[in-house]
Amino acid sequence: MDWLMRPLRGSLNGYAQFLGFSKLLLWPFIYMYGAFVKVPVMQNAPLLPPAKGLESWPLVIFSHGLCGGRTAYSQYCSTLAASGRVILAIEHGDGTAPLSAKWLLEGNKMKISSEQLYLKEQEIDWETPEEVSKFQLRQDQLLFRRHEVYMVHSAFSSFVNGTVNLESIDGEKIPLDSWRTPDSSSSPSVNCTSNIALTGHSFGGATLLSLLSTHPPSEEYSALPISKMICLDPWLEPLASEDPTPVNNESTSPVSSLVINSEGFTLWDSHFERLQRILRGWNTTELLTLVRSQHIHFSDFKVLPLVRTAEATALQTMICNLSIAFLESQTGDPPPSQRTPDIHTRGMQIVHTGKTADYGDGKRTSKRRLDGVLGDVVVH
Ligand SMILES: *[C@@H]1O[C@H](CO)[C@@H](O)[C@H](O)[C@H]1NC(C)=O
Ligand SMILES: *[C@@H]1O[C@H](CO)[C@@H](O)[C@H](O)[C@H]1NC(C)=O
Ligand SMILES: *[C@@H]1O[C@H](CO)[C@@H](O)[C@H](O)[C@H]1NC(C)=O
Ligand SMILES: *[C@@H]1O[C@H](CO)[C@@H](O)[C@H](O)[C@H]1NC(C)=O
Ligand SMILES: *[C@@H]1O[C@H](CO)[C@@H](O)[C@H](O)[C@H]1NC(C)=O
Repeated sequence: MDWLMRPLRGSLNGYAQFLGFSKLLLWPFIYMYGAFVKVPVMQNAPLLPPAKGLESWPLVIFSHGLCGGRTAYSQYCSTLAASGRVILAIEHGDGTAPLSAKWLLEGNKMKISSEQLYLKEQEIDWETPEEVSKFQLRQDQLLFRRHEVYMVHSAFSSFVNGTVNLESIDGEKIPLDSWRTPDSSSSPSVNCTSNIALTGHSFGGATLLSLLSTHPPSEEYSALPISKMICLDPWLEPLASEDPTPVNNESTSPVSSLVINSEGFTLWDSHFERLQRILRGWNTTELLTLVRSQHIHFSDFKVLPLVRTAEATALQTMICNLSIAFLESQTGDPPPSQRTPDIHTRGMQIVHTGKTADYGDGKRTSKRRLDGVLGDVVVH
């Protein structure tokens, strides 16, 4: 499966827009990654029958961060899928992905009907600029994303129960029958009605907190049966509410959560204090920080060919292992950091190095770092 979104010219325009780079300089990279980087999965593969002891596969929904997309977390999502879950990786059409293309069937060919490139805040003309708050665009995008999560769930449930058809965007045949429930007396292939997990990185983490702390954005949708949330290095600043708390709805079960932070976001004091304050109102199983990790380590961008490092690969494995341990845990089980082999947990200790370090966000520099080595996990 192609890692970069097609058409490549659209991807070029979107990345150039996000990075503020010249398209001419960027084109060789887009061309090379477009041609050679593939996600090692079988496209349009049939769904296996549920594993032994399961009636149907559990469902996970993933929401990407700024400049992400449905393939930008392919390592994380495919590792979760390989652990026995169906993952819906959303490509948000809110202008946060470099490129989000809508495809429509025309005759017997799929054609692009519209393209949304990455939206820059400074390029937006507001009707009433005086009423626009600092994070207005992000808050509008969060609302858009909440609609998308409900719509994705509803469309996918209808696909599984046979009331809606899907087309592949490349026009290839999908073995639909393996996904479909043969008749009303048999179990569905995927469990869309309970025990759903939501996961997301960065702005995707903000999306989860925003979704779970508000009622469905329209009366068309009913509350989602979510039982677990995994927030990967969530961005909090754009959230409309200072202290979002989960909406209590007697029709849904309480959501338990795992939060995994990068070192940079944990050493960003005002952010981390707010995160800890918010999580007091949530049923948080664990808040962890991976020593020496950066914000970008949660995505594919550091494990792509040519830029991949052993450190980035090790961190990805830890993020996946902790997430899977959490998804597999039952009520009363020890927290994920104690159920994951090969990780070393420790308390938080800040070391003053006297040197300036960049923790991956490009802006903040700090003379502090967490005590420990790569591979250590700080339990808060
Ligand atoms: C869906 O998941 C719930 C909770 O794990 C379980 O009780 C139910 O039996 C599952 N439904 C199917 C059809 O597998
Ligand atoms: C199929 O799923 C959709 C979405 O959850 C639901 O609205 C619809 O009633 C279901 N239809 C059947 C026949 O189960
Ligand atoms: C629970 O969710 C349903 C469906 O979204 C909504 O109609 C109902 O008002 C909610 N109940 C509470 C107590 O918020
Ligand atoms: C917290 O999550 C656990 C594990 O899923 C669940 O058993 C418990 O009821 C939840 N508690 C609250 C207060 O929501
Ligand atoms: C991740 O899990 C795999 C499979 O259980 C295990 O072999 C590996 O050592 C784990 N790695 C880390 C870093 O947790």
